[in-house]
Amino acid sequence: MTHAPTPLTIRTAHEADWPAITLIAATGFGSWRAPETNEVWRTMMPADSAVVACDGTDVVGVALFLDLQLTVPGGAVLPMAGVSFVAVAPTHRRRGALNGMFAEMHRRMDAYPIAGLEASEAGIYGRFGYGPATVWESLAVDRAQARFRADVPDPGGVRIVRPAEHREQLEDIYERWRLQTPGGLYTPPRLWDEVLADRESSRQGTPLFCLLHADGFAMYRVHGHDETKNVEITKLAAVTPQAQIALWRVLVGLDLKETIRVDTHPGHVLPYLLTDHRLVRTTGVEDGLWLRMLDIPTVLEARSFAADLSVVLDISDEILGGGGRFALEVRGGRAHCVPTDADADVHTDLSVLGSLYLGAHRASAFASAQRLRCNDSGLPARLDAAFATAVPAELGYGF
Ligand SMILES: CC(C)(COP(=O)(O)OP(=O)(O)OC[C@H]1O[C@@H](n2cnc3c(N)ncnc32)[C@H](O)[C@@H]1OP(=O)(O)O)[C@@H](O)C(=O)NCCC(=O)NCCS
Repeated sequence: MTHAPTPLTIRTAHEADWPAITLIAATGFGSWRAPETNEVWRTMMPADSAVVACDGTDVVGVALFLDLQLTVPGGAVLPMAGVSFVAVAPTHRRRGALNGMFAEMHRRMDAYPIAGLEASEAGIYGRFGYGPATVWESLAVDRAQARFRADVPDPGGVRIVRPAEHREQLEDIYERWRLQTPGGLYTPPRLWDEVLADRESSRQGTPLFCLLHADGFAMYRVHGHDETKNVEITKLAAVTPQAQIALWRVLVGLDLKETIRVDTHPGHVLPYLLTDHRLVRTTGVEDGLWLRMLDIPTVLEARSFAADLSVVLDISDEILGGGGRFALEVRGGRAHCVPTDADADVHTDLSVLGSLYLGAHRASAFASAQRLRCNDSGLPARLDAAFATAVPAELGYGF
């Protein structure tokens, strides 16, 4: 005999729900986070930003957002609702809990022009108007054979330090880095506490090592059977090309280690520095930050553009009902964007606009896939030119 499921209800999460929320999130992700770590993320939540799905009085799903600050091309910073901790109990999956929680949670994002998230699976969030907007490229360099080209400078200036003893410098460098990098995120002091606490429960490998330069740092761990073979960079932030080169000279010089691994943006400088660029292998490519524009004019006017443009965009957003038709005029790098009834030049959906926003994906690729439709065949190339960015987008940190 099968029983008819009771309808799920969606409501604000209360303090008393947190033990159940923690259990559902741990079950959903298959791992437990330290209670102290959860506490830090909770300090970054605006009031009433967590919603739960309930079966009767039982909490069976959770979704929430954090108060984040996103750097966009040109260096402006937008308040971003950072969606996180999304999980539904395996006993209640595919009964609309996510749909219900997302509809409710997005009604609470009035103060935010843009929302972002990281996706556990790529098939979940496009329907909600989120598009992948940064790319993680995983690189592995076989360092023992790696040699720097003779014409690459050796700027020096790197020290090995204990990260917790140099917090002020690390914060300052990271702050400069995130303000010049599309996809950069402000790191509040409580999150720095957490990074530098370097908890055993939230890491694999050794405690953090740190290389420090006046304009950059690299934090890394060592992994491997005997804990000596592989170096995994957890964060490399270089504000100048000299700092980038100086840090890589030290990393490639880590005798005894076989491989140095880093997750970075596509087009990283490392292969260009070496006599044999094949020693830098791309071991994976994955989406990073996903973006959903909540206030399209504000978001488009916030970034700088690389070429003039005059276009009417028709943006669909079926499930959550955003989007609309907008006239976008770009002159001298700045955009003016207003709602319009004029005929559209471009038809696409909100997730595609999110993917174009930080310059990591090209309009012409979506046009080839028929996911961005224009009557004028020259328009995708003009969109490519306008949305291009000088600084490659990179997500500041996972959330
Ligand atoms: C992903 C998860 C939250 C989905 O929750 P859910 O309540 O089962 O989702 P819903 O029933 O509301 O489904 C909403 C829609 O998304 C689709 N969907 C849900 N999970 C999906 C998945 N993993 N891949 C593709 N589509 C998915 C459903 O088919 C449904 O589509 P429809 O509206 O066209 O029928 C849940 O499976 C889960 O907790 N997974 C483990 C933790 C996790 O991955 N969380 C996401 C963190 S980023």
